[in-house]
Amino acid sequence: MKKMAMKTTINDYGYNCEGVGRVNGKVCFLPFALKGEEVEFDIEKETSSFINGKLKKVMRTSEKRIAAPCKYFGKCGGCALQNVELEEENKIKKEIAAGHFKKIGFKGEIGLVSVNDYFYRNKIKLFCNKNGLGLKKNDSAQIVNIDKCLIASERINEVISFCQDFIKAKQLEDKLENLIIRSEGENVLVHFAFKEKVDVDFQGLQIMLGAGSGIYYSFYGFAPMHALGAEELSETIGGVKISYNVSSFKQVNDAVMKKLYEDALSKVKGRNVINAYSGAGLLTALVAKKGIICSGIELGESEHEDAQRLKSDNGLSKMQNYHGDCKDILPKVITKDTSTIILDPSRKGCESEIMKRINESQVERVIYISCEVPTQTRDLKLLSNYKIQSVCLYNMFPRTAKVECLVVLDKKSAKSLQQNER
Ligand SMILES: C[S@@+](CC[C@H](N)C(=O)[O-])C[C@H]1O[C@@H](n2cnc3c(N)ncnc32)[C@H](O)[C@@H]1O
Repeated sequence: MKKMAMKTTINDYGYNCEGVGRVNGKVCFLPFALKGEEVEFDIEKETSSFINGKLKKVMRTSEKRIAAPCKYFGKCGGCALQNVELEEENKIKKEIAAGHFKKIGFKGEIGLVSVNDYFYRNKIKLFCNKNGLGLKKNDSAQIVNIDKCLIASERINEVISFCQDFIKAKQLEDKLENLIIRSEGENVLVHFAFKEKVDVDFQGLQIMLGAGSGIYYSFYGFAPMHALGAEELSETIGGVKISYNVSSFKQVNDAVMKKLYEDALSKVKGRNVINAYSGAGLLTALVAKKGIICSGIELGESEHEDAQRLKSDNGLSKMQNYHGDCKDILPKVITKDTSTIILDPSRKGCESEIMKRINESQVERVIYISCEVPTQTRDLKLLSNYKIQSVCLYNMFPRTAKVECLVVLDKKSAKSLQQNER
């Protein structure tokens, strides 16, 4: 029997920037619905407390709604907010973050830095099916074929089209699992990850990409091997020269990353810093470049190696790179001289032991960078001996539901800690 479409009014935004309404006492989450809209939707999933719906019709349209410029919007699963102007998107992201911070008692002003909206991504991962390249819809197995992506750099879009033609000409559709394209200006690195062993002549594609670009390939999910052209891309950020290959970690939005790191750097206090979850070490290097001792802690082996290279390539004697789990290393590296701790964990946030150890320390300042405000605020709640000084969002991922957040905290004075205890 065909299910009847449901109706609701959107009165809030959920964690993924989806519209939130209520039906029969249940919360319903509706991607692409905007606050103030009256909508009709189909139920995709229903539990005793919530409904995940699929937007069917907007009966009363928000004045903020605009036509999305991308023909794949709502289909490919990548973007969440192409249906509003950037200014409104920033307002929505701020409102959602404010809700999370309110839960931990912070009601102060939240800043926001936003510098671009489209053509910003310096990296894209595409999947392949019999029709060519596409994106995986919401991490499902379903591939939505695309010929361009409006949030990827213009150069990446050009290379997508070269690769589509190349895949078709060489009949690689059934053999290719995925393709990664990474750009730095005109130069690109392309990685073909094949499902099986194949012998491919990449010469023609390499000529199209140009001398500063390179091609990698891999089979069965093993490590990428260099095929032709450049092995790395390089650039200089804040006086630090970085070189990276197709697998190295790098933030996807260069302009916003530079602003974020510049601001983080300006918040560092004292001369002895720990950068926990330091990745490929760019932030550690930027701090050390200022003549401040900075110890990075990173679990990933290749990221640690990248950080070690960053240190030697830039002759950074004040940069130290520790390889291992923050849980084990941070308690050993933290001393009475540590003046600032920078935390930049992945989405799952920090281990509670780490937050507790920092809370007991005498470290003057904590700078916490995260791309996941819910886990960030969960962790910050454990820093009861610290007071939030500032919260600022960086729209690193415009048009999508994601945002980066920089929080600065200072150790409470002995007097205010005593008052807290009473
Ligand atoms: C968001 S990235 C940091 C990016 C870094 N700021 C950069 O510019 O390269 C988070 C990093 O934390 C690392 N990581 C995750 N769990 C960890 C742990 N328990 N201890 C140390 N590092 C960890 C990941 O390997 C990843 O490189």
